[in-house]
Amino acid sequence: MNAHAYDALYASGLTGSRITRWCQQQVFGTEDAGDLHAWSWASRGEFDSLRNALALAPGETLADFGCGQGGPGLLIAAQSQAKLIGLDQSAVAISNAQQWYLVTTKAVQAQFVQKDILQSGLQAASLDGAMSIDVVQLLSDHHLFFREVARCLKAQKVFAFATYTVPGMPGTQNYRPALEKAGFKVEHYAPTAGWRDRYRLLFNYILANKHTLRNEVGQIADVLITEANFLLSMIDNPQLERLVIVARKR
Ligand SMILES: C[S@@+](CC[C@H](N)C(=O)[O-])C[C@H]1O[C@@H](n2cnc3c(N)ncnc32)[C@H](O)[C@@H]1O
Repeated sequence: MNAHAYDALYASGLTGSRITRWCQQQVFGTEDAGDLHAWSWASRGEFDSLRNALALAPGETLADFGCGQGGPGLLIAAQSQAKLIGLDQSAVAISNAQQWYLVTTKAVQAQFVQKDILQSGLQAASLDGAMSIDVVQLLSDHHLFFREVARCLKAQKVFAFATYTVPGMPGTQNYRPALEKAGFKVEHYAPTAGWRDRYRLLFNYILANKHTLRNEVGQIADVLITEANFLLSMIDNPQLERLVIVARKR
């Protein structure tokens, strides 16, 4: 999807829809990370892994690359008492992130910037940590992106992210070489326990409730219905994997 397609998605209310949240709560149970208005399905355990790996001290600066509407970055920044910079290509995502931030977590110092994360415009060696949720697999040039994140991080600081390997999607089967080449040491590279069963159930719940979803948000529901069908079509393919990756800048 390009930036305009994301604009339409984020303008629609699909990500905050009641029925989607209900499906997520039913399926994730204690692994539900809360209402983050996210266009992703990260679990509480994944957030804990990212936060622990980042190990930010109060007042340090975290960037969320491809932050969407800001919820995931705000969660980790708030838990770490860190400052947040959220970057996303979608103007609507950034505007919604600013509003969401103002009504929820004013305790966090945060700014949201509309930017292409391949050319973030952030200062070199300005970040104490970097994160990203469900963005890396979408990018056309992983080498360029990992180099950009490495450029912005201070030495010995961590880039922690959740992503997928996607069958047939070039460059997604093994992120290690591109990370190493960009100047990272890979410290953790592992699938999320239980993700496949959780996602199979979640997307089946969403499909079972597609009429309710269409009634709530209109035709834009088809974006999620298409994604559910797409993921379910390959859910048992071992080349589809959901990973948490932690890489430290050398
Ligand atoms: C699947 S969504 C995840 C959003 C957010 N991380 C979350 O968990 O809700 C992917 C996001 O990546 C952003 N994105 C993709 N490519 C980008 C790029 N080159 N520059 C900036 N943002 C990008 C999209 O606009 C979208 O908001």
